[in-house]
Amino acid sequence: MAGYSDAPMRQLAAEQGALWTVSEMISARGLVLGGDSEKLNLGRPYAGERERVVQLFGAEPELLAAAVARAEAWFAPAAIDLNMGCPVPKIRGKGGACLLQTPEVAYTLIQAMRGATLLDVSAKIRLGWDENRSVEVAQGLAAAGVSLITVHGRTSRQRYTGEADWDAIARVAASVDVPVVGSGDILDVDTARQRQRKSGVATVMIGRGSVGNPWIFRALADSVDLEARPDAQTRARTALRHAELQTQFYNDDTGRLTLRPLRKVLPRYLPDYPELHAELVQVVTVADVERVLAPLLHDFTPNGGDSQQGAPFAAATEYAVRYP
Ligand SMILES: Cc1cc2nc3c(=O)[nH]c(=O)nc-3n(C[C@H](O)[C@H](O)[C@H](O)COP(=O)(O)O)c2cc1C
Repeated sequence: MAGYSDAPMRQLAAEQGALWTVSEMISARGLVLGGDSEKLNLGRPYAGERERVVQLFGAEPELLAAAVARAEAWFAPAAIDLNMGCPVPKIRGKGGACLLQTPEVAYTLIQAMRGATLLDVSAKIRLGWDENRSVEVAQGLAAAGVSLITVHGRTSRQRYTGEADWDAIARVAASVDVPVVGSGDILDVDTARQRQRKSGVATVMIGRGSVGNPWIFRALADSVDLEARPDAQTRARTALRHAELQTQFYNDDTGRLTLRPLRKVLPRYLPDYPELHAELVQVVTVADVERVLAPLLHDFTPNGGDSQQGAPFAAATEYAVRYP
């Protein structure tokens, strides 16, 4: 997830048993032509990272092939994924979900990517641009050689509105021989299990439901019924650790730049402590995070009750900010 699934978030997810994680999407053009160190941070693994897929975004076969080679050399991923779901670029001929308007272009991209690596190449699609073409597109992608397809059960036009259509995801899963991963609106373990069972997907992908909640992976990995999250002290400690990992990974002792992207994440560890949110979205250093969370870190009195997910994301906006 652009703006979220950087190395520190992936590390916390992996520690809690996530089968695999995916980098934020990286522009193929930026990776090949840009000298921008941010591009490197987008793909850079944390020390010892494994089972991490790098996702590329683009629309030109030569650039994608070159980006695959570069990503493999620089980031040592387990596999490479093509983004066919980002709803932001609206111009035909661009990458992301635009490829759903011209799937034949996507098939040539997959072939070019496969030609540049021995790693598995996968694709992540939405149901279509403005109508559902997912079975046709998935079959074309499978014929082009993808090893796995992830389907977010919305069209690009829907962005993040409405509900993900898991019946449509099920039809894709039944129509191709490669594993299909289902994505959309999985916020708890029960939903994950039901969706997987009913749709026949190989497994599910969890996006928004894992922000501030890496324990969702632990509950799934251990097959336990863990509907409530850990107690507030554990969640506060993990939020603090997230801030520490962030500062270490970006190698910025001041935290002045690197904690900024985490401001939207920290409150999601503690949806049941709204009184802390105003301060959490203003933190600048790890010491700030520790100060705000101090009542929970050191002298914990439970607020009681199960934690709930916070407000829905302003998702498409986030997406657009990083990748106009
Ligand atoms: C803020 C945000 C950023 C996202 N960035 C990406 C991305 O870079 N690549 C991608 O394939 N999907 C991206 N997505 C889509 C998610 O992977 C996922 O398919 C979608 O949010 C539905 O799943 P969820 O309900 O579990 O979040 C993003 C979604 C959000 C909300």
